[in-house]
Amino acid sequence: MLNIVIFGAPGSGKGTQSTKISEKYALEHISTGDMLRAEIKANTEFGKKANSYISKGYLIPDEVMIDKLDDLMKKKNGVKGFIFDGFPRTIAQGKALDEMLEKYDEKVTVVLSLEVEEDELVDRILKRGEISGRSDDNRETVEARLNVYHNQTEPLKNYYSEQFKLVRIPGQGTIDEVFESISTVLDRIIG
Ligand code: AP5
Ligand code: MG
Repeated sequence: MLNIVIFGAPGSGKGTQSTKISEKYALEHISTGDMLRAEIKANTEFGKKANSYISKGYLIPDEVMIDKLDDLMKKKNGVKGFIFDGFPRTIAQGKALDEMLEKYDEKVTVVLSLEVEEDELVDRILKRGEISGRSDDNRETVEARLNVYHNQTEPLKNYYSEQFKLVRIPGQGTIDEVFESISTVLDRIIG
């Protein structure tokens, strides 16, 4: 299996690139953010609770997210591989993902880290906020999301580079240029 973690700050292009990767390489796209927004849209109890974190830019607690991810993976039997988008977001989630994959005799193949400057991240998110309806696409929350990213999520870069799994991808070209860089890396891995 090819198990990809697509990694990056809010607005770095994880969702955009995951869609393209999953089409080209026939991988299962697991986005914890999309899953949470579906719960919010369906107005479930879980969705309401999740939105109280999301709208402030905070992370949902690890135990809750780890259980949810385990459920999502169980439902996807017999796939060629996964793209994990928005998970892991903490070292605890990174370790949990390793354990979950180990149950299937699998591991994280590669971590694609989309590198985008902060000004560009903010511009992209505020622009999307004009139409997205996402409770976290506004100036106050963006600041909190970036802080959370630096404090809680970015340490995972070290976690994965120590395992020689981290590949930095310049994330600031056009969507197609970024995808071209990603494809080059993945084609080399597939061989
Ligand atoms: P999540 O949904 O994962 O959001 P995020 O990480 O903050 O990132 P975004 O989805 O905003 O950006 P993206 O990197 O996917 O970029 P996109 O392709 O959309 O998480 C939301 C919240 O849910 C979290 O804050 C947290 O509260 C909670 N949550 C989720 N997972 C969790 C977990 N594991 N644990 C705990 N809590 C969790 O692109 C952004 C914009 O830029 C788009 O408009 C796009 O069209 C545009 N764009 C993309 N690429 C380019 C390009 N190359 N050039 C110009 N524009 C571009
Ligand atoms: Mg996303």
